[in-house]
Amino acid sequence: MKDMRYLTFALCKGRLARQTLELLEQMGITCDEMKDKDSRKLIFVNEELKLKFFLSKGPDVPTYVEYGAADIGVVGKDTILEAGRKVHEVLDLGFGKCRMCVCGPAEARSCLDNHELIRVATKYPAIAKDYFYNTRHQTVEIIKLNGSIELAPIVGLSEVIVDIVETGSTLRENGLTVLEEVCPLSARMIVNPVSMRLENKRIKELLMNMRTILKGEE
Ligand code: PRP
Repeated sequence: MKDMRYLTFALCKGRLARQTLELLEQMGITCDEMKDKDSRKLIFVNEELKLKFFLSKGPDVPTYVEYGAADIGVVGKDTILEAGRKVHEVLDLGFGKCRMCVCGPAEARSCLDNHELIRVATKYPAIAKDYFYNTRHQTVEIIKLNGSIELAPIVGLSEVIVDIVETGSTLRENGLTVLEEVCPLSARMIVNPVSMRLENKRIKELLMNMRTILKGEE
């Protein structure tokens, strides 16, 4: 144990991190100093188990994991797809479930049916491009936005959007609808490929314990 290296976790700030920590707690992995809301500390250590944890912005999680600054990351599938980093996706944690969808006013359905050269606003240009070019084989103009994507078709910036739909209430309240589903999303665990080899035993054990707990919750 003394010479064991630390396994470092990068967690996506917010609800996903809280749910991941709950799951780890059920496995007997705790990190009390992380619960202190007033703390400005960025990195937390569990000395006994030789684990480190840090919180980062979602899109940065795959970056830390690809470069090996974190061995393991937990982040949404949307972020993993958009980042296109060289990481192994090893586990679907089952929480944070939602869908990536093409949405717009009902009238925009014909633009899709006719494969028109439309504008698509999104926070996820890589996912939107892959879907329209490789799945739909439709040439479109993709416009990157940073939030409140639902505004785009309302104010006439684009015909449709590619965005996350969870409850569907943002769409409903703004007179928009799901036109097509791109893919289902949820929180995933990712691992650095070198860590996967060097720390195979520890990571496999961790995954096995997580799977057991997740099965019990089903
Ligand atoms: C997300 C997403 C939708 C909304 C969907 O936005 O972009 O706008 O949640 O959730 P619903 O189906 O339950 O209404 P978020 O709140 O993360 O903020 P953003 O608009 O700044 O991206």
